[in-house]
Amino acid sequence: DGKLPHTFVVFGASGDLAKKKIYPTLWWLYRDDLLPKPTKICGYARSKLTLDELKAHCHTYMKVQADEQAKYDEFWSLNDYVAGPYDVSTGYQLLNQQLEKIEHGCRANRIFYLALPPTVYNQVTLNIKNICMSTRGWNRVIVEKPFGRDDVSSKALSDHLASLFDEEQLYRIDHYLGKEMVQNLMTIRFGNKILSSTWNRENIASVLITFKEPFGTQGRGGYFDEFGIIRDVMQNHLLQILSLVAMEKPCSCHPEELRDEKVKVLKCIQPLQLSDMLLGQYVGNPDGKTEEERTGYLDDPTVSDTSTTPTYAMAVIKINNERWQDVPFILRCGKALNERKAEVRIQYQDVPGDIFEGSSKRNELVIRVQPGEALYFKMMTKSPGITFDIEETELDLTYEQRYKHSYLPDAYERLILDVFCGSQMHFVRSDELREAWRIFTPILHKIEREQTPSIPYQYGSRGPKEADRKCQQNNFIYYGSY
Ligand code: BG6
Repeated sequence: DGKLPHTFVVFGASGDLAKKKIYPTLWWLYRDDLLPKPTKICGYARSKLTLDELKAHCHTYMKVQADEQAKYDEFWSLNDYVAGPYDVSTGYQLLNQQLEKIEHGCRANRIFYLALPPTVYNQVTLNIKNICMSTRGWNRVIVEKPFGRDDVSSKALSDHLASLFDEEQLYRIDHYLGKEMVQNLMTIRFGNKILSSTWNRENIASVLITFKEPFGTQGRGGYFDEFGIIRDVMQNHLLQILSLVAMEKPCSCHPEELRDEKVKVLKCIQPLQLSDMLLGQYVGNPDGKTEEERTGYLDDPTVSDTSTTPTYAMAVIKINNERWQDVPFILRCGKALNERKAEVRIQYQDVPGDIFEGSSKRNELVIRVQPGEALYFKMMTKSPGITFDIEETELDLTYEQRYKHSYLPDAYERLILDVFCGSQMHFVRSDELREAWRIFTPILHKIEREQTPSIPYQYGSRGPKEADRKCQQNNFIYYGSY
């Protein structure tokens, strides 16, 4: 069936995600001759748009070069668009007729991308199942977070999806799993003796996993206020990174072996307590240069004036197994901070029996996910020259310098291509999701029930000062001010 033509259906085609990610990704794959041939694309949404209007709507995000115009037009000639409601079956009948027309009544595989708000998930998936499935090829469904807002609602969604589709047909996207350096974690860890043999509590003092963004909720306040930073970033993106850093070595690179190991390590984590957490919420910076910088979270008109929703969170996670007991894994993420950055810092323990009178620093392996993929190892060396002083330096693998001519695809490019190929390795399995909610649900409920106050921090700052202290208390030494 892999050789059959494909039809890619984008639900929510007129929305934000489709415009910013899905259509651009499909275009880049087509441009680079990576999109399997033949593939046709059909958008579906409530807005009555012509194809030309959809094209214009997506244009700024497609990044078309002057010499690509002919190919770009060719790409749009593969597209169709059907307008219809999400809650009435007649719309889906129309869509299905259009899909059959596109496929000329021949056998074809279908991929359904749900770029939709969670409120319409149930009805859309039910109608896909009843009306739009390919009867003579395979069907795959791509779903985006939020996968519920706690363990109960997530289970309800999982049960609903499981009543319609097999797990092999479901592709739950966590786009961090499509990022170059996140995928590289497996190789770094298991392809290097020097690292694999020191990757444990005997050598590592602490692990810091960071996500920072230099902008606030930017008009997404309505969505954000309902979810908060813990659900938006920590429970998914950061926990996925943690599981790849901490899991045991899988028996092979088979997707299920890998996913088994990720689930296993999550099972060794207890649900978080309030004392493991630190919460923050940004306030406007009165000296900010832009209106955005002067605007605090609560000044967003779509956010209630009394909201205590955190826009910054730190969690100290302990993994209760032989490899990691007592090693703090510190996750921290925040909006409206001083920079855009996602990285992992593996901090090694102090060298025992110090002979350098305290001037030695800890080794640190830094895996920078973005911006500018890099892997560098901080180590001590003798200062060059006549002196016998010691200093810290880096073994530096900065991709921009080492791999000048390599094209690093966007996370969505890899992941959408994986769906065509039927590889679920970099997608979230239902039991993995269940474990993630088990760890975070009690604390989320507690924070909401008790309206736990968040510490204010200024737009454009490094976040609440208390966070630095919490890092130090958890055996992570700050040598810089990252
Ligand atoms: C999304 C979050 O999942 O990830 C956003 O909902 C966040 O709030 C985004 O901005 C970050 O993704 P990236 O790839 O830009 O780091």
